[in-house]
Amino acid sequence: MATNLFFLRTHSLTRTIKPFTYSSSASTTTTRATTSKMENTGAPNVNDNKRKIFVAGATGSTGKRIVEQLLAKGFAVKAGVRDVDKAKTTFEDNPFLQIVKADVTEGSYKLAEAIGNDAEAVICATGFRPSLDLFTPWKVDNFGTVNLVDACKKNNVNRFILISSILVNGAAMGQIFNPAYLFLNVFGLTLIAKLQAENYIRKSGINYTIDTLSTGSISRDLVAEVAVEALGHPESSYKVVEIVSRPEAPKRSFEDLFGSVKQR
Ligand SMILES: NC(=O)c1ccc[n+]([C@@H]2O[C@H](COP(=O)([O-])OP(=O)(O)OC[C@H]3O[C@@H](n4cnc5c(N)ncnc54)[C@H](OP(=O)(O)O)[C@@H]3O)[C@@H](O)[C@H]2O)c1
Repeated sequence: MATNLFFLRTHSLTRTIKPFTYSSSASTTTTRATTSKMENTGAPNVNDNKRKIFVAGATGSTGKRIVEQLLAKGFAVKAGVRDVDKAKTTFEDNPFLQIVKADVTEGSYKLAEAIGNDAEAVICATGFRPSLDLFTPWKVDNFGTVNLVDACKKNNVNRFILISSILVNGAAMGQIFNPAYLFLNVFGLTLIAKLQAENYIRKSGINYTIDTLSTGSISRDLVAEVAVEALGHPESSYKVVEIVSRPEAPKRSFEDLFGSVKQR
């Protein structure tokens, strides 16, 4: 069984790091759920008894896994996507999956409409796609995330989970010459855009969990699992969690792990 360590990056700019051990089965097993396409057609609501989660960037590598894991855990999912037709080919049929168009660059009002009034949480798994527009990283990873937070406020959604990135706080950690930091920032200052979006979330008052990733190999299944587990663990509230994968780490429950991470 693959094992992993958790680290917390605290609220301060220096973000002291404290390690926690974590063992996950999902990091070696791809969760497969029976998923489906149900557009926003006004069909009878079969999701009444389920907690509904809105996932932005649902057709991405991480977003797709988040959707699948949520469905497997009994949530209803509203998948926010740029391309509904693409999403229909991405997911299998499932009455608890609803696909809605949601481009995060189009502003908070449209996003609020897409999220609707029945989602209890938003998980943001968006990431810019390379484009000739040099501002795309800012538009998606900064403005887009900010728009999502603002849409949550409009709809009284008070839970936000962000999949962030490695080295987002690289500058404060003295990593500005780290090749990975330089490489990622070549693309429209991606990491700075993400860091500023993180700061916006933290100041918004919304109950957040920000999942960041350590350097090294971290499976997207694990990233998705941590995001989904955060929903069920109040210990993850108002926290920035850095996922670090290490072999032979002792197994610990999510409750333990999230609980061990310091709040801001
Ligand atoms: N090691 C790491 O640091 C690490 C690992 C995993 C994930 N992450 C982070 O997690 C996030 C997702 O990563 P990933 O690998 O899953 O990325 P990905 O496969 O490239 O997926 C990105 C998703 O964002 C969507 N998207 C792009 N522009 C959008 C817009 N304007 N409005 C709405 N959605 C938009 C894409 O939609 P389309 O499908 O329509 O293109 C896609 O669903 C990124 O922020 C990434 O930095 C980081």
